[in-house]
Order: sequence, then C-alpha cells, then structure tokens
Amino acid sequence: MENILILPGDGIGPEVMGEVRRIIDWFGEARGFQVTLDEDLVGGAAYEVHGAAISDAAMEKAMQSDAVLFGAVGGPQWDNVAYEARPEAGLLRLRSDMGLFANLRPAICFPALADASSLKRDLVEGLDIMIVRELTGGVYFGEPRGIEDLGNGQRRGVNTQVYETYEIERIARVAGDLAMKRGKRLASSEKRNVMESGLLWNEEVTKIITTEFPELQLEHVLADNCAMQLVRNPKQYDVLVTDNLFGDILSDIAAMLTGSLGMLPSASLGAPDATTGRSKSLYEPVHGSAPDIAGQGKANPIASIMSFAMALRYTFERGADADLLENAVTHVLDKGVRTGDIMQAGCQEVGTRGMGDAVLAALTELGK
Ligand code: IPM
Ligand code: MG
Repeated sequence: MENILILPGDGIGPEVMGEVRRIIDWFGEARGFQVTLDEDLVGGAAYEVHGAAISDAAMEKAMQSDAVLFGAVGGPQWDNVAYEARPEAGLLRLRSDMGLFANLRPAICFPALADASSLKRDLVEGLDIMIVRELTGGVYFGEPRGIEDLGNGQRRGVNTQVYETYEIERIARVAGDLAMKRGKRLASSEKRNVMESGLLWNEEVTKIITTEFPELQLEHVLADNCAMQLVRNPKQYDVLVTDNLFGDILSDIAAMLTGSLGMLPSASLGAPDATTGRSKSLYEPVHGSAPDIAGQGKANPIASIMSFAMALRYTFERGADADLLENAVTHVLDKGVRTGDIMQAGCQEVGTRGMGDAVLAALTELGK
C-alpha cells in the first residue's frame, strides 16, 4: 500500500489540500488507487504547537512516505519569529533532509486562460516550458552564512554560492532525461560572466549533455538575459535547467506568463533508491499561502490538484490517471468554471469547494 503524508501548512494550504483529499478518494474508489493518508503540521501551524517550523516526528513521517503533498507556508503573524523557526524553514528542511535536489516546475498556458496572462495572447498561447531548478544547493544552503557584528557599528551579512560537480551532473541528467521525452531542446542558465560557480555549472552541464544526451540541442543563456527572453519570447524554451536562486526567480516569471500562479504545480524529487528505484518526493503548488484570502473558501485548488497529478505520474507511475486528472482540469476550464483569481466575463465563478466539485464531476464524466 502506498502512503502519502499531507502537510497542509498555513493560509489557504488547508483549504486547497481539502480538495486534493477528495480527489485522492475518487482515485481510490474509481481507479483502485489504494493509499494510506496521514497528515501533520508544517510552517506557522507547526510553530504554534512545537516552536519549530516542522517537528522531528513530522520530518520522520515525511522520510518514510512515498510522497509528501505540501500546501503552503507563511503569514504576517510569523514575521517576527526567530529566523530558524520561520515558516519557510520547514520547507527548506524537508527539501534538504529528504535530498530533493530536482525541482520540476512546468509552466503551461491553458488555452482557456491565455487572455489572463500579462503578455499578449499570441506570445503565451500553447506555452509549455519545464523549468528544472536545482533545489538543495547553491546560495540557499552554502556555508559560511550568517550575520556577523563587526564591532564598529557595522554588520556583515554572508551567504555562499557554491556548487560541486556531482550536484551539477545529477540535475543536468534529470533535465536531459526530461528534454529527451519532450522537444529535445535544453537551455541552461547561470551567470558565468560574473561567478566562478556559474562557469563550473556551464562546463559541467556541457560535459553531461554532450556525452550522455548527444541528441539534445543545448543552449547556454545568462540568467539576466533569460529573464528578459522569458518575457520577450517565452515559447523559444522547452526545458530550462538552472540553479537554486535563479530557478526561484525564473520560475516565478514563467509562472506569471501562464495567466495565474494559482494553476501551477511542482514536483521535488530525490535520487532513486538503490533497491526500490523510487525517489523521495514532495509535491507543492507554486503559489504561496495567500493570507489575504485564507479561510474564505475562495482559493483556487487547481495548482494543488495538478501537483497531485504530478505525484501520480512521477511517484506512483500512474501516467493514465495523471492524464485523466489533467484532462479533467482542462475540461472544467473549457466549460468556463472559474475561481476568483482567474475569473473572466461570461464565466461561472465558484469557490474552492465548487472547483473541487467541478473537477470531481469531470473525472466521473471522462473516467467512464
Ligand atoms: C519557492 C519559494 C521558496 C523558495 C520559499 C518559500 C522558501 O519561493 O518555492 O519558490 O525560495 O524556494
Ligand atoms: Mg519562489
């Protein structure tokens, strides 16, 4: 039996994950997806109970799970808690302790939403980019780090951007594999003109791709230029591989191109286990905790639902079920069902629960 740990977290996290639970139940009843569900606290919710953004017990459950489904963390009420206990620290610990080095962030423009993009329709219609972000290295985790008192009224803040060959090789392989299954085009982004770590990134990516994926068309693009290209002509990219910090920024840009942050899923994967072949994994929506609308039943659950579709595909190897769920979401959007964040004239506005109902109805209709 598979086992999933749900970490709803803060803000709209619990609401959207509630809809994901109903979708999981549907797959259990209609498609024989047998799974044990457990739930625990993360982020501010964990801080309130344990004084830490994730407890050791929850961390242990995450390590034992086949997949973690994560909601969102953070909110203004935790702005002043100790830095190590801030809500984001829970997510960073999960990524680091579980070894989730590969973060897959698809940026897909649903046809029905092309007009909701901040770019013109013809630039984004049909957009389908896969950003592969390195997630456990670079400046997010590099040492030394900290704030130092220089004793003369001055302080020094330090973070370290550091990559070793093996870290670049393994993320390049993930990106190479994905590119082979897609359009066979890979772009790699860094700042080799300023940073030695970028130069190393560039060289190691080139080595892996040219020797192990000779069929791929590889392009290198400086990260600042890449940001510009993403808003100038985003469809030029297929798979884009980059480091932790640039990936954070470039994936937000790519997400916005698609019309709504409320739509985009992500998968974070570790190395395959030597005996089972299965990777540790965590799936989360790209959007945050949206404290301004939390608890109102208005949040869009689609990003979380699509994250579960990625879990079906990448962890549970149920590609047909993943297709079914993605098609159900597209079907609902085509029918004009919308949450407030993607509302358009002439469409029917629903809340979180209503969107869950619509996806369940579409699953039942399409899954026959
Ligand atoms: C993301 C978020 C996180 C990050 C924060 C919440 C720590 O922005 O997943 O992109 O910076 O990685
Ligand atoms: Mg981010």
